[in-house]
Amino acid sequence: MTKPENSEQDHVLIFDTTLRDGEQSPGATMSHNEKLEIAELLDDMGVDIIEAGFPIASEGDFEAVSEIARRSTNSVICGLARAKDGDIDRAWEAVKHAPQPRIHTFIGTSPLHRDIPNLTKDEMAEVIHTSVSRARNLCDNVQWSPMDATRTEHDYLCRVVEIAIKAGATTINIPDTVGYTAPRESADLIRMLIETVPGADEIIFATHCHNDLGMATANALAAVEAGARQIECTINGLGERAGNTALEEVVMALKVRNDIMPYQTRIDTTKIIQASRMVATVSGFPVQFNKAIVGKNAFAHESGIHQDGMLKNSENFEIMRPEDIGLSETNLVMGKHSGRAALRAKLSDLGFELGDNQLRDVFVRFKELADRKKEVFDDDLVALMTDSNTNAANDRMQVKFLRVICGTQSPQSAELTLTIDGEDHAVKATGDGPVDATFNAVKALFEHKASLQLYQVNAVTEGTDAQATVSVRMEEDGKIVTGQSSDTDTVVASAKAYVNALNKLLVRREKSAPQ
Ligand code: KIV
Ligand code: ZN
Repeated sequence: MTKPENSEQDHVLIFDTTLRDGEQSPGATMSHNEKLEIAELLDDMGVDIIEAGFPIASEGDFEAVSEIARRSTNSVICGLARAKDGDIDRAWEAVKHAPQPRIHTFIGTSPLHRDIPNLTKDEMAEVIHTSVSRARNLCDNVQWSPMDATRTEHDYLCRVVEIAIKAGATTINIPDTVGYTAPRESADLIRMLIETVPGADEIIFATHCHNDLGMATANALAAVEAGARQIECTINGLGERAGNTALEEVVMALKVRNDIMPYQTRIDTTKIIQASRMVATVSGFPVQFNKAIVGKNAFAHESGIHQDGMLKNSENFEIMRPEDIGLSETNLVMGKHSGRAALRAKLSDLGFELGDNQLRDVFVRFKELADRKKEVFDDDLVALMTDSNTNAANDRMQVKFLRVICGTQSPQSAELTLTIDGEDHAVKATGDGPVDATFNAVKALFEHKASLQLYQVNAVTEGTDAQATVSVRMEEDGKIVTGQSSDTDTVVASAKAYVNALNKLLVRREKSAPQ
């Protein structure tokens, strides 16, 4: 067996698992169409391998992986499978439609993980041989992962990696499942495997890091320096707990510091901001302002910091240019006199390509916003595009009317009309503050037992007429959903974000209801 063509010594494959490990993050559930849209963009931006889902997990996962496989052009499409016949066969059934399919099978190899299925080391070695062989009989491209590799005894890790290679694995992924390792250890582990395991030079080693100690990017890059040639990552670092290695961070680090890390990726970095915004919207996980590369404040000119030095020479402050990740250089202000063509051009600059029908709807919302707000900035348009209301066509519940009475005297009150399944329902409720009153009104109209876990407000731009983006996270029977909305009125944004989360809860209830 020879190494895949694009594994030359200086080339690092980018394996994106936003749709699998990212989606596993509680509350980040994505719909079928949202997954297709993200996969299309990942394929287009040069991601080498897309881990599209875990086909055995649900019918929805299976359908999404199959459809992504059918539509893929350049990327390898990968499906995850435990070391079980049913999982492996199901993963193959889904990915086989891709021009370049891959099965990724895994088992936990650390002492803690071996205890769960209660297998001895020898019994587990046998399971690994059988599962990888089964996958390899179905598909030429097989990835195997010893889950919790960084806490697995080194001698046992070498033994099972050798077994997987002999059984036909073409990529061996070394996961730091709990985000425990540190850069030097991450490098030493990869180096040790490459130097010790027979057949290691025939396959690709991958690094898969979690960010629990904030070292996922550093650990992945250290692994590359030691010989790993595939980085597993997600857009915005989305993922369980503190998330995974962020795609934008490793890709830009390799680009900007190519002088000391002379490795290439195939990623078109100008698509990074579009991918970041799309994943933030779809997952309901907003990007923190000071997040490396894609945060609102990551570029001085974007955050409105116009210091003297910056104005004289942007290189004084910036190690990369905003255009490198697809941010337009200017923050041209739009207003109520701006026309449809200008809006389309501006949105395209911001990474949103709209069809005629979508543009017509967005234009109406833009005009409403411009009527209320003299100047509409780039960030306002991004908030508009990512607002749940812009994407609410299929929602069962919508906010139709809201009026709150608030002031120094308690309680505050809210009059609310919700359209639920096409019918209007109105109520008046009180509460401790206007948001509490509004949420009580929503609860009165739509009874539910979901509890509010997070309520967060961010101003989109400066000024007292700025829009507010409100994010909420809710939990019902262990299921977590998030909602988001933006409006110049914070209470309206709050009501819409709450209703957005409830709509997602309804979808989840429908999915889990017995057929
Ligand atoms: O973190 C992990 O160990 C994983 C495996 C399934 C590869 O995501
Ligand atoms: Zn993981």
